[in-house]
Amino acid sequence: MSSHGDPIPMTARKGGALRGTAHVPGDKSISHRSLILGALSVGETKITGLLEGQDVLDTGRAMASFGAEVINHGEGNWSVHGVGVGGFAEPDHVIDCGNSGTGVRLIMGAMATTPIRATFTGDASLNGRPMGRVTDPLALFGAQAVGREGGRLPMTIIGADEPIPVRYTVPVPSAQVKSAVLLAGLNAPGHTVVIEQEVTRDHTERMLSGFGADLSVKQTEEGRVITLIGQPELTPQSITVPRDPSSAAFPVCAALISEGSDVLVPNIGLNPTRAGLFITLQEMGADLTFENEREEGGEPVADLRAKFSPDMRGIEVPPERAASMIDEYPILSVVAANATGKTVMLGVKELRVKESDRIDAMARGLEACGVTIEETEDSMTVHGLGPSGVPGGATAQARLDHRIAMSFLCAGFAAQKPISIDDGGPIATSFPIFEELMTGLGATLTRDDP
Ligand code: S3P
Repeated sequence: MSSHGDPIPMTARKGGALRGTAHVPGDKSISHRSLILGALSVGETKITGLLEGQDVLDTGRAMASFGAEVINHGEGNWSVHGVGVGGFAEPDHVIDCGNSGTGVRLIMGAMATTPIRATFTGDASLNGRPMGRVTDPLALFGAQAVGREGGRLPMTIIGADEPIPVRYTVPVPSAQVKSAVLLAGLNAPGHTVVIEQEVTRDHTERMLSGFGADLSVKQTEEGRVITLIGQPELTPQSITVPRDPSSAAFPVCAALISEGSDVLVPNIGLNPTRAGLFITLQEMGADLTFENEREEGGEPVADLRAKFSPDMRGIEVPPERAASMIDEYPILSVVAANATGKTVMLGVKELRVKESDRIDAMARGLEACGVTIEETEDSMTVHGLGPSGVPGGATAQARLDHRIAMSFLCAGFAAQKPISIDDGGPIATSFPIFEELMTGLGATLTRDDP
């Protein structure tokens, strides 16, 4: 089942070359944070290029439930009239975050130090994901959480009456956990300190500073130490959201594996905490170049050009790179299947608690398509079959996971026989224009009868 409707079975077939320019949507991480930080400022934040995917729309609706005014002006232009730090009102209904772990975890953090209660739920995927990693540190501020067995949603958070600032070392490499703690720290008096041993995406830190919070970052022996001084007045901003590198990954990788392709993907955010996939692809021998490199809105940006790359070879992807490409392993495993030799991905156990268990989802689906996979709890190895070497001819289960759905469709563009997925509905959570964008480049992609 898709997250919001009937299943949409789809099939991808090998066709001609992919050619043209692919304008992918705005960055999902930055879009969520724009709405949340806008809601926590006093006055009007203007957002251009917001990702209008279901995940972000659910966060926008949630911010309205907490009292902010969220207005869609059309064509990706939105505004948020915020209520200020500590100004959230108690929602009078359950907050449905749909498929979005980022949405629910960041919002829980943002409300946990205000004396209100809110009940959160999501779709079958989100309601199966662990929330303890966020509610444990929120309890240190004085918030309480009552959820289902195993710390799962639906869950009620009772915000702290008199929050106390915390010093917290994040036990797993997770930008969602780090961000939840920082957002909670906004309404706690004094210094909230978050320490991460592995650097994860730093959009929350960059954006909090941009909104006027007093935040400093130091690299020490303990790790990366982020210190936030609580109870600032955040100043509304005008934000231009860069285009999403995690979405760019799909047309880029599809072009690399499809004969004769040459695709330009402009204006992609290349924050180093997000760009691990592109380094990996270049190490594999991909014909991938960064053009027109520049800085926009405090984030590095470039135009990506990807051409068919028949000489790609398998490599070992080091564990220390995992956080900077955590959402890209599914599509990397498709590229690896079309490369020559073995690609070993290490330190990837976080993939097991994403929208689906992404190691299992990719391994089972690729095996059904004729690819040999080895997996451990923390690694995945793909035995490449060379350019267009994947037999295909199978249906993969998308498991309510947008990135699994798109990865198997991209695999189908280069496989010998078509590859189908049971449900393309979840693609709308992050990349609602995927189908038209890929067919616009010349891909053969159809919707099948349910
Ligand atoms: C995100 C952080 C990552 C990533 C997710 C978006 C964010 O999750 O997988 O798609 O915007 O903070 P984790 O924090 O669980 O690693």
